[in-house]
Amino acid sequence: QRPRVFVSRRLFQETLDLIAQHADMDVFDRSGSPSSEELVARTTGCAGLIAQGTDKVDAQFLDQLPDLRVVCNVAVGYNNIDVAAARERKIVVTNTPDVLNEACAALTWGLILGVTRRLGEGERILRAGKWKGFQLDFLLGMDLVGKTIGVIGMGRIGQAVAAKAAAFGMRTVYMKSPRRPDEQIVGPDGVPYEGLSFEEVMQRSDVITLHVPLSPQTHHLVNRDSIRLMKPTAYLVNMARGPVVEEAAVVSALENGWIAGAALDVYELEPVVHPGLMKFDSAFLIPHLGSATRETRTAMCNLAARNLIEVLGGRPPVTAIPGSYIP
Ligand code: GLV
Ligand code: GLV
Repeated sequence: QRPRVFVSRRLFQETLDLIAQHADMDVFDRSGSPSSEELVARTTGCAGLIAQGTDKVDAQFLDQLPDLRVVCNVAVGYNNIDVAAARERKIVVTNTPDVLNEACAALTWGLILGVTRRLGEGERILRAGKWKGFQLDFLLGMDLVGKTIGVIGMGRIGQAVAAKAAAFGMRTVYMKSPRRPDEQIVGPDGVPYEGLSFEEVMQRSDVITLHVPLSPQTHHLVNRDSIRLMKPTAYLVNMARGPVVEEAAVVSALENGWIAGAALDVYELEPVVHPGLMKFDSAFLIPHLGSATRETRTAMCNLAARNLIEVLGGRPPVTAIPGSYIP
């Protein structure tokens, strides 16, 4: 008998075709996302669930689904999943690392250029018909060459960002992992980057870029106190998860000139954006687009499907979340 699975969002047809070869599938096919009640109702009786980062998979959810064997997140972040609760119930949980590193790293540079060269502001002026023509002192930004980029979260995506820094003539420093203080991270040229404490990275960098996972330890890592460590000429970039940054502190920082600008892809209460951020041209704001390329999103969906098919077929997953139950 074929296993049943619920797919909590419409995926690409090629992914659905892949799953259909191995399982009977029900697909949420409206726009938006299922309510938590509908998610439980439609996953009932299923052995597998393809989930998104906004589907909350906690103990209470899992207790209602005794047939569930695997949850495959279409995202590298898994702050929506209680990994320990899944492990206790012998449910495998998987994510989609690596396939999105380059898309996220490239768009991080998009954010960096966007905020330091005032691209959003410039486009708004042009589209409003308010551009008066070339002027020497119009919309002046900051050069990247010769400056320091500070990477907070030097994992796979952070390293992909750092690998491009030399091309912009930037020096890279990074926050040493509190769990691996002796680890040396080496750039593509074989030279180690300089590892510093969180405070030192905040103090010394001209651009701070965040790539840590969201956890109780990283929640509001950038807050009123830590933002005050930054140079008044420095820029903050968040390509990680919204709650890593206290948005109200960023608003205060822009208001008071504590920093030069902020570029955000993610927000504390998506899709709500702190109204204070909208008031400042020094905030460059885009709507959670880190991995949003056709190639990368297809690869993420197909990797989630492969994880599902492997586990339902009695094989180990391709990319289990650290700490996941492995049968
Ligand atoms: C997207 O935000 C992801 O975690 O993949
Ligand atoms: C700018 O457009 C220049 O020609 O320098």
